[in-house]
Amino acid sequence: MRIAIIGSGYVGLVSGACFANFGHEIICVDKNKEKIKRLKNGEIPIYEPGLKTIVKENVASGRLIFMDNIQEAIQGVKAIFIAVGTPESRRGEGYADMKYVFGVAKEIAPLIKDYTVIIDKSTVPVGTADRVNEIISEINPQANFDVVSNPEFLREGSAIEDFERPDRIVVGANSEKSLEIMNEIYSPLNVSRNQIVAVDLRTAEMVKLISNAFLSIKIVFANEVADLAEKIHADGIKALIAMGMDGRIGEKFLHPGPGYGGSCFPKDTKSIEKTGQEAGAHLTLVEAAIKANSGRKAGMVRKIIEAMGEKISGKKIACLGLTFKPNTDDLRESPALVILPSLIEKGAQIRAYDPKGMEESKKIIKDIKYRNSSYEACEGADCLVIMTEWDEFRGLDLKKIKNLMKGNIIVDLRNIYYKKRKNVEDIGFEYIGVGFKE
Ligand code: UDX
Ligand code: UDX
Repeated sequence: MRIAIIGSGYVGLVSGACFANFGHEIICVDKNKEKIKRLKNGEIPIYEPGLKTIVKENVASGRLIFMDNIQEAIQGVKAIFIAVGTPESRRGEGYADMKYVFGVAKEIAPLIKDYTVIIDKSTVPVGTADRVNEIISEINPQANFDVVSNPEFLREGSAIEDFERPDRIVVGANSEKSLEIMNEIYSPLNVSRNQIVAVDLRTAEMVKLISNAFLSIKIVFANEVADLAEKIHADGIKALIAMGMDGRIGEKFLHPGPGYGGSCFPKDTKSIEKTGQEAGAHLTLVEAAIKANSGRKAGMVRKIIEAMGEKISGKKIACLGLTFKPNTDDLRESPALVILPSLIEKGAQIRAYDPKGMEESKKIIKDIKYRNSSYEACEGADCLVIMTEWDEFRGLDLKKIKNLMKGNIIVDLRNIYYKKRKNVEDIGFEYIGVGFKE
């Protein structure tokens, strides 16, 4: 099937490349001409494991092409995915900025000729698909189309696997015809029909938001349990693992750390919180989770300062990891963006290293010394903070690090050395993790 994907970011590009890989004819569109130019030259503007190979193969086979012109791109397509960003419009207020989604709807409306399915893939407030429907009908009353909501559940860093092996595919559709086309689009995926959950438009939009809200609540709960365990001298990590073994609870998303970040959880929780408040049906757990997660970063700053004996002015801190999670170059809402400036403000000198996030970080936090390896970052440091759980930090030569550092403190905000902490201490480190205190 010939399909256009509008917006070639983390979601649009992965979806486009994967659909092409399943044999569809895909046109990925982006208004950012520079991005399209790079893609046409075989450059991938983001870091996502496996993406480069899939893009390369499908471009070579002619199934995946890139364009900056929507008009040209949607000619002869049966389906148009809208995957443009929906950033928070006014910081902290919870409103997703819908101008890009509605802008695309306005742009494609006069161009629709034969029956076309317009699919909303971006994460949007409930009611957006109805509004897209209205916009297109107002501009082009003759347009033959249906709007569908098909939210994405792609985790950065494992987006391709999530795309190819989804737990479920949620399709919000108001007509049999559009549902059939959605089934056809996803038919090459090895999913059973009952994994495709067909619901109405608003329900589909809601599924996405409540899924991310629930996962955020799980993380906040794990973080609060970790804090409690530290105070009462229990092992919070083991307690959470044992709790998660209950099939009704599940072990995933119970890893304590510096708080959730990224382009989705912070935004989606605020969006559904707002919807609840406006509808007069408060989601009190979500409200509490947002508050707790925003305070989490200050808690981590306190943890680091306490570990360093209260005096950090003039001290050197090595920070390993800047991205909000490993295997991505994305820094959106990364805890590092709050924790590091706060330490700098208190007089600390930061030397940081991240395998993929430094280019972006250099644009945002200027008063850090960026280093080319973990070892370089640790030279002369009083304290080492592990901010993101990149695999390459799991196998560090800690003896070498001990010799390079001036001090002997490790604050491991992701608990990657939790299991090996006795070895770490034997080397001479004072090891502080999240959720246990001996
Ligand atoms: C996506 C979803 O769109 C968002 O709703 C969800 O919550 C997170 O994932 P993402 O792919 O991560 O966003 O965003 P980004 O990487 O910024 O990509 C959006 C792309 O759309 C950018 O390349 C941007 O240039 C493009 N765009 C934006 C357009 O082509 N047209 C526009 O009008 C606006
Ligand atoms: C999320 C959703 O999981 C995915 O389905 C889609 O809707 C996009 O948004 P993503 O933001 O890429 O994916 O990453 P995710 O793996 O969900 O992690 C989000 C944040 O939570 C990260 O900052 C991560 O470090 C944190 N996290 C996750 C924890 O602190 N503890 C955990 O146990 C799990």
